Amino acid sequence: MVGFVVAFSALFAAQLTFASPVRSRTPYQVKDVHNVPRGWRRVRRAPADHVIDLQIGVKQSNFAELEKNLYEVSDPDHHRYGKHLSADEVKELVKPTDETLDLVHEWLDANGVTPSGYSSAKDWIMVTLPLGDIERLLDTEYHVYEHKDGGVVARAPKWSLPLHLHDRIDTIQPTNSFFRARAQKFDHVEAPVYTDPHYTPPSNETLNAVCNVSSVTPECFQTLYSTKGYKTHACGKNKVGFNNYLGEHPIRSDAELFLAKYRPEAVSTAKDFPQITIADGPGDYALTPEELASATSKEANLDIQAIAGISWKTPIISYSTGGSPPFNPSTSTPDNTNEPYLVWVNWLLDQKSFPQVITTSYADDEQTVPESYARRVCQQFAQVGARGTSLLFSSGDSGVGPYGECISNDGKNTTQFLPEFPPSCPYVTAVGATKNFEPEVVAYRPAFVGPDGVAHGNYTSGGGFSNYFTAPAYQLEQASKYVKNLNGLYDGLYNKKGRGYPDISAQGLYFAYFWNGTEGVISGTSASCPLTGGILSLVNDALISTGKPPLGFLNPWLYSKGYKGLTDIVSGSAVGCGVDGFPAVEGWDPVTGLGTPIFPELVALAGGKLFY
Ligand SMILES: *[C@@H]1O[C@H](CO)[C@@H](O)[C@H](O)[C@H]1NC(C)=O
Ligand SMILES: *[C@@H]1O[C@H](CO)[C@@H](O)[C@H](O)[C@H]1NC(C)=O
Ligand SMILES: *[C@@H]1O[C@H](CO)[C@@H](O)[C@H](O)[C@H]1NC(C)=O
Ligand SMILES: *[C@@H]1O[C@H](CO)[C@@H](O)[C@H](O)[C@H]1NC(C)=O
Ligand SMILES: *[C@@H]1O[C@H](CO)[C@@H](O)[C@H](O)[C@H]1NC(C)=O
Repeated sequence: MVGFVVAFSALFAAQLTFASPVRSRTPYQVKDVHNVPRGWRRVRRAPADHVIDLQIGVKQSNFAELEKNLYEVSDPDHHRYGKHLSADEVKELVKPTDETLDLVHEWLDANGVTPSGYSSAKDWIMVTLPLGDIERLLDTEYHVYEHKDGGVVARAPKWSLPLHLHDRIDTIQPTNSFFRARAQKFDHVEAPVYTDPHYTPPSNETLNAVCNVSSVTPECFQTLYSTKGYKTHACGKNKVGFNNYLGEHPIRSDAELFLAKYRPEAVSTAKDFPQITIADGPGDYALTPEELASATSKEANLDIQAIAGISWKTPIISYSTGGSPPFNPSTSTPDNTNEPYLVWVNWLLDQKSFPQVITTSYADDEQTVPESYARRVCQQFAQVGARGTSLLFSSGDSGVGPYGECISNDGKNTTQFLPEFPPSCPYVTAVGATKNFEPEVVAYRPAFVGPDGVAHGNYTSGGGFSNYFTAPAYQLEQASKYVKNLNGLYDGLYNKKGRGYPDISAQGLYFAYFWNGTEGVISGTSASCPLTGGILSLVNDALISTGKPPLGFLNPWLYSKGYKGLTDIVSGSAVGCGVDGFPAVEGWDPVTGLGTPIFPELVALAGGKLFY
């Protein structure tokens, strides 16, 4: 059957090739336009000889079926719950049709272009070409753009394709994506004085003895979320991973100092965890003088320390993906940043197996990513979920949007809230942040200048509603109820039908951590995300060691069952854009999601067994 299809489409392609010369087969028409986001300035034409890697997102044959499979195996009330798909099953559903691949290849061939690589399902084709050639291929012009905060890229806001390829290719990048992944964190060398007038220390003496609001530690998390004493049993099978971008790589000596002080039994983790380098990402080495000067790897250090502090003995894997080099203002050629998630996720999907939980603490304004591209990257995440892995993303640190930046990018300059991508993707789990203990409330810390003269911006747990993705079925009831209860508050500033996020939350203010051999504290959904990942990896341990499948894509379970094992956060709001922002309320809200983990209850709800 398969052979027949191939033969038939090869014949089809050959006939077409003879029938008419490719370039004139169909005329070029604009395929995609994306406005240059605020903050970017066009500087000059890009050098024609500058070589970049172009990623062509070829139409997947049956994403609807993949999505259906994802939801079935992730829905606790479905008979296929937990029956995650194999790599080959996923590939089979998303690989483009032979006809589509033939037409795309024919177009490349006719223009003398040979692919330099493919994703495992061939739903992405890579070509490596000088910009001059790409300009002819896409009938466009690349310019160099500079960001006000630094960073130079070559981009083309508008690009074209022959008409007959418009429904064969979803997206091509880098063309018009101005996405800049940002780590979601705020750090301090010295612990700042905690100044929340509403704070009262926990009345529970056990909690009060281990939780210091100015410097929260693994012992506090273990007590607060009740993982203390749990002994892992599935270490041969269960793993947890985390992503590093922007030149970040975790430093072993700092992880060792941290664990020796705060989780001594886990100290060997610092030496053991593998660091995987993808697409020329940084490797496993001590900080260089340049990295020290630019404060690199604070995020990566936070991530490994937050996970290792809670998830021991679960093996941890670090992924450092290149492709988004740090800004270098002196180079004459642009840094052609591939959007790094795509490079990573396509690499991952090519692996036979990978960790059951993977966390990412980087995100950016959704509107800087063209919708067509955001959709395709999101569809790659769906494939990871279908294979049984929970992908966690931090929800952002600016509440409903960064103060002074809440303006639309559609050319109309409308005031609006700014959702973040990837947390806005419905196939991932977005993690917000809380602070304090009894009760936990929305993490919020207004801007201030520290005693060292360093200015720190406003920080609030990020949340909101996507402008690209509609609310998926799993949260439709909770999200519509929330919107209805707002009673018109913030109407016109957000998409009432959008995918609401975050889905879950955990502590995210003043984490104790080490960098450059020194202890400091660091805050952000960057902290809550790896912490949550560590806790969920323990839930997976309890499942896997009783012969059950891991949680996989979490959201359908979280919204229908898992929420009963969370502490609902009902105080605080997503302060941002100069307003109070969405309030935390009873039930789901777009600032703390469904709440913070209660480990033993999550295990019980998922059908696992606790081992002490
Ligand atoms: C205090 O907190 C600990 C840890 O969460 C818990 O085991 C204990 O039951 C709590 N005590 C009271 C009196 O609530
Ligand atoms: C809480 O942490 C801060 C910062 O590390 C420290 O200065 C303070 O002494 C701690 N408080 C207690 C009661 O341990
Ligand atoms: C929107 O803002 C940009 C940058 O501030 C400005 O150049 C442009 O003219 C504005 N457009 C409208 C329609 O107001
Ligand atoms: C890193 O640590 C060294 C040794 O303690 C110190 O001299 C240096 O100032 C630190 N660098 C930064 C950027 O903190
Ligand atoms: C923080 O937000 C407030 C309004 O909520 C604003 O007045 C202030 O300028 C912001 N600070 C910074 C550094 O963005």
